[in-house]
Formats: sequence, structure tokens, C-alpha cells
Amino acid sequence: MKAVVVYESLWGNTAAVARAIAEGIGPGAEPLSTDEATAAVMADADLVVAGAPVLGFRLPTEAMRQSVLSSERNAPVPPDLSHPSMRMWLQENAPGHGRYAAFETRIWWSPGGSVGAIASELERAGYVAVAKPRKFVVRGKYGPLREGEIERARQWGAELARAIRAEPAGVTR
Ligand SMILES: Cc1cc2nc3c(=O)[nH]c(=O)nc-3n(C[C@H](O)[C@H](O)[C@H](O)COP(=O)(O)O)c2cc1C
Repeated sequence: MKAVVVYESLWGNTAAVARAIAEGIGPGAEPLSTDEATAAVMADADLVVAGAPVLGFRLPTEAMRQSVLSSERNAPVPPDLSHPSMRMWLQENAPGHGRYAAFETRIWWSPGGSVGAIASELERAGYVAVAKPRKFVVRGKYGPLREGEIERARQWGAELARAIRAEPAGVTR
């Protein structure tokens, strides 16, 4: 099975979760940034797991990504804006086949989220859900991830791999 775990990550939390999910899925799974997950790479993927942070209560918009450069000057490290947004990737790089699962990283109490937009874009492109979306929690605005979240991500990856083998037709959310 070929699996791609594609992520948007400005401060590294979503990237860390993506790496753990790929580890959990096992051999054949790769964590990729939005520019690494090209249409050619996606073409023969059996599973796409797509994740992003929640910024401003939603999947980061281009405007939000630009505004953090000035609004988050006190961040411990500058945001990594060198890769396209998940929004852009979903518009440009999602061919319509295979199975998917969506995840987000977020503060526990926040309203809104990113997984709804990721899921509807992937479904619009023809992907079928293999599992319900998953949320991973950070302790502060810029992270770090709450204790145990990396292990949860690894376990979720293993569950996804089992589900895709067991349920060839997929499940709905
Ligand atoms: C400017 C800014 C806005 C944020 N807005 C939200 C929000 O609306 N809801 C939420 O749950 N978390 C919010 N967060 C927390 C991020 O979602 C969290 O730190 C996430 O893990 C960042 O992912 P990354 O490290 O992969 O970029 C915000 C963080 C920042 C810096």
C-alpha cells in the first residue's frame, strides 16, 4: 500500500504529527509537505492523510498566512511559509481517487477547525473517507503538542492502515 501523509505546518506541530502518522501506517507511507506531494506522487497513492493547523478558527487562508508574519513577531521561531497552503494544495493537487483521512492540530478549547474543509475538498475531488477526522492538541499557541499526542498519532496511523486493508469500499464520516 502506498500512503501519503501531506501536511501544512508553520511552527512544526502538524509536521511532527504527520511524521508519527506515517510511522504508524508503516512501510510505504511518507510524510510530505504540500510541494512534495505533487500530482505525480499522488497518482498511485492508495491513501492520502491530509492535515493542517487551525489558524483563526479555520483551515489557514492565504490572508491569515501572510498576516502572521507581522502579527506573530513574538513567536519563538518565525513561521515557515516556504510551502504552499493546504488550501492551495487541495485546489491544485488532489486527483479524484483513493481513500482519505483528515487531521488538524489545534488548541483544545477553540471553536471552528480545519478538518471539515479538508474533508469536503477531498470528497469533492472523489476521495472516500477511511476514518473519521482526528484532532491533535497543542498546549500553547505555538505548541508544543500535548503529552501523548505523538503516540496517539502513531496509533491512528496503524488504525488507518488496518482499516484500509479491512474495508476496501471505505466508510462515510
Ligand atoms: C496566529 C495563530 C492563530 C491560531 N488560531 C487558532 C484557532 O483559531 N484555533 C485553534 O484551535 N488553534 C489556533 N492556533 C494554534 C495552532 O492551531 C497550533 O499551534 C497548531 O498546532 C500550529 O500548527 P503548526 O505548528 O503545524 O503550524 C493558532 C496559532 C496561531 C499562532
